[in-house]
Amino acid sequence: MKLVSFAEKIFIMRWSAYLRYLLQSGSRYSVHSPFVYNLVENVFRDKQFHEYYLVAETVRKRMLHSDKIIQMKDYGTGGDNSQTYNAKVSHIARYSAKGKKNGRLLARICHYFSPNVILELGTSLGISTLYLKAASPVSLVHTIEGSPEVAEIALQNFRQAGFSDIRLHIGSFELLLPELLKNGLKPELVFIDGNHTKEATLGYFSEILPSLQSKSIIIFDDIHWSKSMEEAWEIIQKNPQVKISIDLYWMGLVFFKQGLSKQNFILRA
Ligand SMILES: C[S@@+](CC[C@H](N)C(=O)[O-])C[C@H]1O[C@@H](n2cnc3c(N)ncnc32)[C@H](O)[C@@H]1O
Repeated sequence: MKLVSFAEKIFIMRWSAYLRYLLQSGSRYSVHSPFVYNLVENVFRDKQFHEYYLVAETVRKRMLHSDKIIQMKDYGTGGDNSQTYNAKVSHIARYSAKGKKNGRLLARICHYFSPNVILELGTSLGISTLYLKAASPVSLVHTIEGSPEVAEIALQNFRQAGFSDIRLHIGSFELLLPELLKNGLKPELVFIDGNHTKEATLGYFSEILPSLQSKSIIIFDDIHWSKSMEEAWEIIQKNPQVKISIDLYWMGLVFFKQGLSKQNFILRA
């Protein structure tokens, strides 16, 4: 009998999670909440090209052609970060950054809500940061990255794109997130894209909760990445402060707006 390798198990699990998502996801006609219906119509289903995509996409192209090799701290999925490894910048751009479809979606969400303050956990080369900032240039963006060498490249990318006001904080989420929040940061859009473990995700969520506004949104990346991320997503959805949750498979969105009745959606974007 052939044994299934760990990588094959992950592959099978992700595909079965995706199949489950496809079977459960509803169309816009199944949405009775005007707030969510408007989001679907104006943001999820918007197929137009927007100029504000260009900044991140130009940087992505440049990064994909870089043959520079840098040292990364192994935060990976909960590594203890004392280990380091070498990575090609082009490889990081290809495999770590949000892809074009989801990067554009992120940008449209940000443009639609135009948050005053954005907080991103996981800058990497700054591609998702640039999708967010270019879509809403008036927003004040704070982004945290734990690997100094990749953060340095992100910083150069921000400057070259003309966004030298993006506040890039270099250090671990565990150290810098509580500090930023203690100093009064009140994020209206949070994008969590690093350390995809159940414990870490729930930890960041509960740390950020007291600083949120009624109109705040949290976007969790890769909610179906693993069984434990799916468990974290389940717990987050059930939190009494969460009014609306939307599972888009690659990302999960949660809203806290007062006056909305509690509902969980599984939708295609
Ligand atoms: C998936 S990448 C982010 C990609 C980026 N958001 C994009 O789409 O362009 C995750 C990043 O988070 C960083 N990271 C992961 N866990 C971290 C932690 N606990 N503290 C600080 N940085 C961390 C990693 O070094 C990595 O660069």
